[in-house]
Amino acid sequence: MTVILGIESTAHTFGIGIIHENNGRIEFLANERSVFKPEKGFGIEPSLCAKHHQEVADAVLEKALYKAGISLDKVNAIAYSCGPGLPPCLLAGLEFAKSLSRQLHLGLLPVNHCIAHIEIAKFFGQLRDPVVLYVSGGNTQVIGYADQRYRVFGETMDIGVGNALDVFAREIGFEFPGGPVVEDLWKRGKERNNYIDLPYVVKGMDLSFTGIVSDAVRRYKKSDRSKEFIEDLAFSFSETVFAMLTEVTERALSHTRKNELILTGGVGASVRLQDMLSIMCRDRNVSFFACPKEYANDNGAMIAYNGMLLYPIDKGLSVDKADFNSTWRTDDIDVIWMR
Ligand code: ATP
Ligand code: FE2
Repeated sequence: MTVILGIESTAHTFGIGIIHENNGRIEFLANERSVFKPEKGFGIEPSLCAKHHQEVADAVLEKALYKAGISLDKVNAIAYSCGPGLPPCLLAGLEFAKSLSRQLHLGLLPVNHCIAHIEIAKFFGQLRDPVVLYVSGGNTQVIGYADQRYRVFGETMDIGVGNALDVFAREIGFEFPGGPVVEDLWKRGKERNNYIDLPYVVKGMDLSFTGIVSDAVRRYKKSDRSKEFIEDLAFSFSETVFAMLTEVTERALSHTRKNELILTGGVGASVRLQDMLSIMCRDRNVSFFACPKEYANDNGAMIAYNGMLLYPIDKGLSVDKADFNSTWRTDDIDVIWMR
């Protein structure tokens, strides 16, 4: 029987997950979090966000232990999100992990945040070898496993698609997070189906979003700013960026001949993106799985789960060896648990 505690702190979320494994059966006991909300409603100031993580850490831990119904001495290892992310936030998580490691004399398992998103989605979708579309605020990547690594087949050349939605929403007068706001506007805009032509930027397997944001904002500023125009613009924005993502994902499926697709990351909650991808998958005979929101957003359970995959092979680092890596790339990691 193994219990792993996972700590997530790469960006706005401080999360703690606790999972338990017994004879190959895995149970998710707790997944608690506290999300930093910037005061002006937009933009993460890394040092303030890190301060938030330090302040809430003990309370989130207490809630997670209570929810899991276990005490700290039952934990076998501490997994922490080692990167990529905002350095002050990563440091806050690392320091908390180290203090627990010292107190409990446990090893520290460094987990790559992006790979943790993939592995937990594979677990819930019961998929073996999927293409993964990982779409969040900061990340937009199409990933697949080949030759002991998760390879990035395509990615954004500038900002993440979630960030594009957030900036667009802010510029047309709405608060963070922009994704759900744009989705509401899209629902109303789609009734009229009045598509406004916006730049569609796919270069090979890579994507760019900044040009679309600037063009949409320029059109908004020149418009009469009527409710209908805003809805049409948000409808067109969504259709454009989600079609771009679907095109690149389809090409990855075609090149790799994989027959499973996972959608994960905060933007994976988008009904329209799920819809476009599931139609594409149906046409290609590909199984499609959208990771449940609780585990698709940044969370501690996914870090604990990746720690659980590592634990049989690697009991973890000592406190003096553990560090963070804010630019840790997905394809840098030797996926030892898949060998
Ligand atoms: P990462 O550190 O992996 O980049 P993140 O910090 O951006 O993650 P997430 O919780 O994975 O955090 O994603 C947040 C993003 O998801 C925001 O940009 C938000 O606008 C977007 N989002 C949330 N709900 C929806 C939705 N229904 N449709 C589209 N986008 C959404
Ligand atoms: Fe994330």
